[in-house]
Amino acid sequence: MPGAMTTDTGFSVSPGDGAAAAGLSRRVLVTGAAGGMGRAICLALAHDARRRGQRLQLAAFGSRPTAALETLQAELAALQADVRVVCVDLTEPQATAQAVQDAIAWAGGLDTLISNAGQSRPGQLATLDVAEWDRCFALNTRATWTLAQAARPALAASRGSLVAVASMSGLQAHPGYGAYSAAKAALIMLCRQLALEWGDMGIRVNTVSPGMIRTPLTESVYRHADVAARRESLVPLGRIGQAEDVAQAVLYLASPEAAYVTGSNLVVDGGVAGNMLTQIPGRPDKAR
Ligand SMILES: NC(=O)c1ccc[n+]([C@@H]2O[C@H](COP(=O)([O-])OP(=O)(O)OC[C@H]3O[C@@H](n4cnc5c(N)ncnc54)[C@H](OP(=O)(O)O)[C@@H]3O)[C@@H](O)[C@H]2O)c1
Repeated sequence: MPGAMTTDTGFSVSPGDGAAAAGLSRRVLVTGAAGGMGRAICLALAHDARRRGQRLQLAAFGSRPTAALETLQAELAALQADVRVVCVDLTEPQATAQAVQDAIAWAGGLDTLISNAGQSRPGQLATLDVAEWDRCFALNTRATWTLAQAARPALAASRGSLVAVASMSGLQAHPGYGAYSAAKAALIMLCRQLALEWGDMGIRVNTVSPGMIRTPLTESVYRHADVAARRESLVPLGRIGQAEDVAQAVLYLASPEAAYVTGSNLVVDGGVAGNMLTQIPGRPDKAR
């Protein structure tokens, strides 16, 4: 496929006896698998599959072969998951669709698609160039649509679900982040529309909107202790989120326990989005 590489550096291990005996398997595709949230999501899926006595077949998507993907693969294998690593640039629709089809053929179907890969870059709308706008939308919005289109027949067959990772920046305008806010807002709406169009096939589609989460994407911010402390002070729950906080929300939306949940956006932000009014200064002689 031009412009992208799809590799299978994965290896298989035997599923747990319980899963094999029960004949249960769960086939999942996760993009951005070796990133901060992706890794936490993959590990949460593996632990959950073990708890449920299921065999997990996980297609772990990254943009390129990295040590982080290799490490993840080993960690998942230790948790008895079958893993296939797939490297593809999600901004390339044809290559992405082919990679999804290959992953589905490998797993023999698909139960859950987790569209997690995304990226933000600083930028001012006054000066942002068109190529950067397009790149941001291609990754943060269009890639989910491409993945969903390619996965639709398999998800319909399994009455499966799609969970996309959006952002609080898709709910509030985020100055200084170029096209990111607009792209994540569009992602939330894209998923709502998919939920309506594919509901009659039994496919559930939901988004998770993380708030401030410490991952490699945001590490350069939280490295500054003063900035981290100021950010923390905005969070009603009193701390910056961890990738595992988001992973648990994704896990729920992808689970049978969420069988009647579709078209929803689960905000995982420690309360930040609703915290505007506590920021309003009051009389100095009155405690808030
Ligand atoms: N961290 C936060 O505070 C925060 C808050 C709200 C929303 N989010 C969203 O949460 C999701 C995960 O973010 P994160 O914090 O875990 O970031 P991260 O650690 O930087 O991971 C992002 C992942 O996206 C993948 N990716 C980037 N460009 C790609 C491309 N063109 N093709 C294929 N894969 C690509 C990367 O894969 P490679 O490493 O293989 O390139 C990486 O694994 C993103 O959608 C992000 O927008 C994050």
